[in-house]
Amino acid sequence: MPTTRPDGAAPPDTADLTRLRRAAADCTGCGLHRAATQTVFGEGPRHAEILVAGEQPGDQEDRQGKPFVGPAGRLFDEALTEAGFEREALYVTNVVKHFKFTERGKRRIHAKPSRPEVVACRPWLLAELRAVRPRLLLLLGATAAQSVYGPSFRITRRRGDPLAPPDEYAGLFDVALATVHPAAVLRAPDREAARAEFVADLRSAAR
Ligand code: URA
Repeated sequence: MPTTRPDGAAPPDTADLTRLRRAAADCTGCGLHRAATQTVFGEGPRHAEILVAGEQPGDQEDRQGKPFVGPAGRLFDEALTEAGFEREALYVTNVVKHFKFTERGKRRIHAKPSRPEVVACRPWLLAELRAVRPRLLLLLGATAAQSVYGPSFRITRRRGDPLAPPDEYAGLFDVALATVHPAAVLRAPDREAARAEFVADLRSAAR
């Protein structure tokens, strides 16, 4: 059932992604909408077999209104191609749908969303999962994985393990896999090794 929230930020009870996207554009479920340019809702086919969830839009995503179109998105696209996927076949979204940042001069620097912000945005991820009902939920990074599996979830321990849906997500996907965030690959001291491991995780998702 959709969550009823006093602020009018509850997703409508529909599997129509266009209606969900329109409703999410007006979401005021947490304070992040105030500074962000726009809500960045998920994109992809309604019946995608794989739903990919990242953390939150970055600077480019916030400007363009599309998930994973900045530097991390480019690395993600290349890794997908190497692993044999077509991005167009995947539904790609984020667990938090507004960009959170701090300003440094003219630059907007990514800031990690708080637990209450992640929790406030969860009804939208649930609504996307109800609409798409993917076989696989691919979680990129700790914030995404902890949104679904709770704050004690550690990617370092469970990376690549097949994970059953938690009770609240029962029936919304068959299995989940958690791996690192592509931004972490970009920052890794040995970027080539980190990239190869990331591609290997995507290959196992394909299987
Ligand atoms: N990082 C994310 O987690 N999501 C995006 O859409 C872009 C960067």
